[in-house]
Amino acid sequence: MTQTFERISDWQRARASLHGRGETLGIVPTMGALHEGHLSLVRRSRAENARTLVTIFVNPTQFDAAADLERYPRTPADDLALLQQEKIDFVLLPDERELYPDDYRYRVAELDCSRRREGAHRPGHFDGVLTVVMKLLQIADADRAYFGEKDWQQLQLVQGMARAFFLRTAIVPCPTVREADGLALSSRNQRLSAADRARAPQFFRALSTAPTAGAARRELEALGFAVDYVEEADGRRLGAIRLGDVRLIDNVVPGGRS
Ligand code: PAJ
Repeated sequence: MTQTFERISDWQRARASLHGRGETLGIVPTMGALHEGHLSLVRRSRAENARTLVTIFVNPTQFDAAADLERYPRTPADDLALLQQEKIDFVLLPDERELYPDDYRYRVAELDCSRRREGAHRPGHFDGVLTVVMKLLQIADADRAYFGEKDWQQLQLVQGMARAFFLRTAIVPCPTVREADGLALSSRNQRLSAADRARAPQFFRALSTAPTAGAARRELEALGFAVDYVEEADGRRLGAIRLGDVRLIDNVVPGGRS
């Protein structure tokens, strides 16, 4: 039986009774519009913990453009049905007032990595991500938290925050789930036109096979993509492109499949 909570205080009462029974808890933070990428995290948490909490919250503070927030897909009924099928114990769906009683006057900021790549193109994005993840980790008081490598920079920043603030929750990285043609699963893929969906896998292909980051950028531009960046950091090649008004990000181990 899946129990859903809208109030943080109701969830916290359920959380307290788990402590009494000594059961481990995993958390999977999401913004909903769930797909197989999210479900891979959910299944991993179920396999590694007695109980799993999935949170669904489209976090306004991490959207740098109001239009992107408005357009973000919202499918709560489908999400709940999927989580019931996956036999998830707890789902938390807080609203903005619940999570931001301070109106975002308090926030977590990282001053180096968060300003590069995604951060350079989406000012304030990672402040919003880190702040909401900090809140969710505090509320969940989980043993493990699951994050996808699809959002590589987010994963690195969350791991760094957990170390910097001595959080008790272990951050568990999970591999990127892809379509058969290589396109990384993303809620934003639904918004691609048929023509753009057909050429989107070239992004992953160019990122993985080009000899250098610069060559990958040139290849993508020659294919007609608007490239925000292609850069390498810590043995990873990361990129972002725009197809119409849809922005896609991906990252790979150059030369390898991941
Ligand atoms: P969202 O985009 O919904 O993603 C939730 C989690 O699913 C993230 O950890 C993300 O990396 C992972 N994920 C998404 N697509 C994936 C794929 N194709 N393969 C593997 N994992 C995938 O990321 C967020 O939400 C938000 O920033 C959040 C962390 C919830 C904070 O608001």
